[in-house]
Parts: sequence; C-alpha cells; structure tokens
Amino acid sequence: MKFFVDTADLNEIKDLAATGMVDGVTTNPSLAAKSGKKFLDLIAEICAVVPGPVSAEVTALDHATMMKEAAVLKKIAKNVTIKVPLTPDGLKTCKALSSEGTMVNVTLCFSANQALLAAKAGASFISPFVGRLDDIGQDGMDLIADICQIYNNYDFKTEVLVASIRHPVHVLQAAKLGAHVGTMPPSTLRALFNHPLTEKGLKAFLDDWAKTGQSII
Ligand code: G3P
Repeated sequence: MKFFVDTADLNEIKDLAATGMVDGVTTNPSLAAKSGKKFLDLIAEICAVVPGPVSAEVTALDHATMMKEAAVLKKIAKNVTIKVPLTPDGLKTCKALSSEGTMVNVTLCFSANQALLAAKAGASFISPFVGRLDDIGQDGMDLIADICQIYNNYDFKTEVLVASIRHPVHVLQAAKLGAHVGTMPPSTLRALFNHPLTEKGLKAFLDDWAKTGQSII
C-alpha cells in the first residue's frame, strides 16, 4: 500500500519524506489556501521534495478552462498529477488528459458508480472520501470495499486512493481491503509508528543495556 501525505505544509512534507514512508502528496484548494503560498510555487516546492505523484487540483468548473489550468500545472514538474472534481466536465478533462498520458486524480468521489465513471475515463487515481461519509452517518469503508470489488471485476488500472482518512483505523481498514493508496494527514502517518508496548519494551532493553556499561561504538 502506498502512503500519500494529505497536506500543503512543506515542513511536514520534508519531515515525513525523510522517514522514507511518503510515496506521494495530495493537496486541495483548502490546504493550498491554508499554506498562504502562491499555488504554483507551492506545487513546485513539493515536487522537488517528493518524487512520487503530487496532486494539484484545478479550480475551474468547465472543461475548456480545466484543460488550460492543467496545461499550466503540468509544466511545473513531471510528477504533477492533475486533480479534477467528479463532475461531467471533470471526467471529460480526465479522459482528455489520461489519453495524452497525464496522471489524473479524480476527487470528491462519494459513490461506487462515480468511481466506475472515473475508471472508464482513464483516471490514474480515484479519491473516495471516507471520513466525510462517516461524518454523515455512512460507513466510508463500505464504499472502498465496493470500489475495490468493481475495479477487480473489470481489471481497471485506476488506483483506489483512500482520501479523507482521519485516523489509523481508517488506514488499517483500507489496507485490509487492498486499497492501493491511502492519503492521510501528517498526524495520522506519524501515529502509525506508535505503540505503547514498543516504547515500554525499548525502555526496558536500554535500561538493561546501560547496566552493562558497554557501548557499541
Ligand atoms: O484531500 C481530500 C481529503 O483527504 C480531505 O480530507 O479530512 O478534509 O475530509 P477531510
């Protein structure tokens, strides 16, 4: 399973990239706005840190303008993935960009039929938002299970990129379902490393080691 980090905070991205666990980055207009940076500069900086796919979202609603925005974003770096919304114009843009070999991430997916449309449009990634479904009393992971099953049925190459992950249990559930990618906030990625028994065990080992008075180097 690939791990993407869902943030536009460059310091967080650099810090987590150094762990070797970051396979890509996703941003959205809200995260970009929060960064306070010029969007094109921000994407260039992220692409310089992470060689994997970096999602940069168009903000137009119509196909023609989406294509123009995508042309600007694509020029920033080879690993820019154009993020489009799951709308008729977004999928039209997805099909056009995918046909010319550009990676596309279709975002704001909330149903399996929407995911089916994105796969038919040649998307590299589909982003179902599990946390936002949980927020309204639906089980976001049911959607991931449905999409994985449908994509397997037809051998679609579109990767299931589980988005709106809020906590480590979402990561675990997505991994058990075989989702290709999870994009998560930095805090969730950091939480995956932690277990109280690891900390407790390490302390006990090192306390015993200290008693020997030895050192390895
Ligand atoms: O980037 C899209 C998605 O991951 C946003 O998550 O927590 O705002 O629903 P959230």
